Amino acid sequence: MKSIADIHHLDRDLPPTVLTIFGATGDLSADYLLPALLHMHQEKLLPKDFHLVCVGRRDFDAKKYLDFIIKKSSIIKKFKPAQKQSFLKILSYYKGDFGDPKSFEPLARQMSDREQPRHICYNRLYYFATSPQLFASIARVLKESGLLMSCRSHQRQVRVLVEKPFGFNLASARDLNRLLLKYFSEDQIYRIDHYMGKETVQNLMVARFANFIFEPLWNKDNIDHIEISVLEKDTAAVRAEYYDQTGALRDFVQNHILQMLALVTMDQPQDLAAEHIRDQKVKILQALRPYNGAAARGGAVRAQYEGYAKDAGHSSETETYIALKVFIDAPRWQGMPIYLRTGKALNKKLAEVSVHFKEPDRCIFRDCAPNILTFRIQPDESVHLLLNNKVPGFGINLHRGDYEFGYNKAFMSEIPSAYERLLLDFLEGDQRLFIRSDEIEAAWKFIDTVAGSMAAIPLDRYKKGSHGPEEAGKLMENDGREWRTR
Ligand code: BG6
Repeated sequence: MKSIADIHHLDRDLPPTVLTIFGATGDLSADYLLPALLHMHQEKLLPKDFHLVCVGRRDFDAKKYLDFIIKKSSIIKKFKPAQKQSFLKILSYYKGDFGDPKSFEPLARQMSDREQPRHICYNRLYYFATSPQLFASIARVLKESGLLMSCRSHQRQVRVLVEKPFGFNLASARDLNRLLLKYFSEDQIYRIDHYMGKETVQNLMVARFANFIFEPLWNKDNIDHIEISVLEKDTAAVRAEYYDQTGALRDFVQNHILQMLALVTMDQPQDLAAEHIRDQKVKILQALRPYNGAAARGGAVRAQYEGYAKDAGHSSETETYIALKVFIDAPRWQGMPIYLRTGKALNKKLAEVSVHFKEPDRCIFRDCAPNILTFRIQPDESVHLLLNNKVPGFGINLHRGDYEFGYNKAFMSEIPSAYERLLLDFLEGDQRLFIRSDEIEAAWKFIDTVAGSMAAIPLDRYKKGSHGPEEAGKLMENDGREWRTR
């Protein structure tokens, strides 16, 4: 049977690498990072000479740490004991205190002890999977303990991957950028947005720029509106404290939704170079029309599910649902609305980007329904195109049929998880799916204008397990439109 590496044509040798994860005992590590790395190890996607160092404050050795993660993670339980055993050979656990650079000196020594006798230099990759408040101490610890040192015999690559939330507003995001840029250069910094690692999100660019039928139609003259919906069934109870300070706007719109918006509306980059793709995305983010009082009143809905106060542990004005009508002030999109919405505790889990083409001015048939192209990000990864067809029989009656391209049917192989894809890119030094500092700042600049208008937007309520607040429906209905899925 072919391995994943063969299927995806990954016949390359990655350089010797040590990946160090800070925040190794947290939920992100247990739920996403360790399962992804274990699977990548099993599928031989990691460098041949690879070592994983998991850093935490608890007293563990590698075996105890892995047992702890296995207990915490529902996914890892699926791995066989032999696979875990083999993973232990590349894993070590390190107890360090981020407040004390000296506590990391032994780790720096261990790293060079591994290198010196063999005259090789490992690439040093650092994953900051902690809260951003700790980034400054971790960067300082890395620098002062010598862990960022270059290597004389060959050019060691040092990279850092930082998790979201990347700031709370423009000012804090700028501070974080300044802080990281004190220790690393932009080409060493990998700001993650895990939606960029989803296959169907990556397909937005391929579908647009590898199919030449779309580009001539891709503008305000032929498209009536675009809709991006990310609906979640889960409540906000899991990470209640974080969520209560963040809310739907900052937790989801600032990053995942604006990234998808940028991919579906940007101009074609001159090639696939990371800088060229990111240049195009940043142009869209910078062209988002700022919210002011009037735009906010007619173009935004915020709401909270009933029972949220119990999940948060106190009464709160944090929104768990948000719907926005936004505009891009660029010639291609001038005046065309883009509707965004996301919320928790809803009746379904669904993420979709839909491009609604205009109704023709003149149609010789009765009922020419507008064409809709939908990218279903999850679940049931697929692309759908609604086209008019004749209903068989006498007369000429039209039916709008769904031309579906489903990933499950088309590709028999397993779809790699977003984290696996992004970890692999991090190991390879490919920044295409990571977010540049100016993108982050442009996104926050726009979000700050929405956040600033929040006080003018009343907080509606909706029932858990419902399709969301009635007001969100009205946001579209007032414009003579409706959300694709209720
Ligand atoms: C995270 C958000 O970034 O994405 C969570 O902080 C959200 O609130 C999660 O639930 C959704 O990710 P996915 O991959 O399950 O759609």
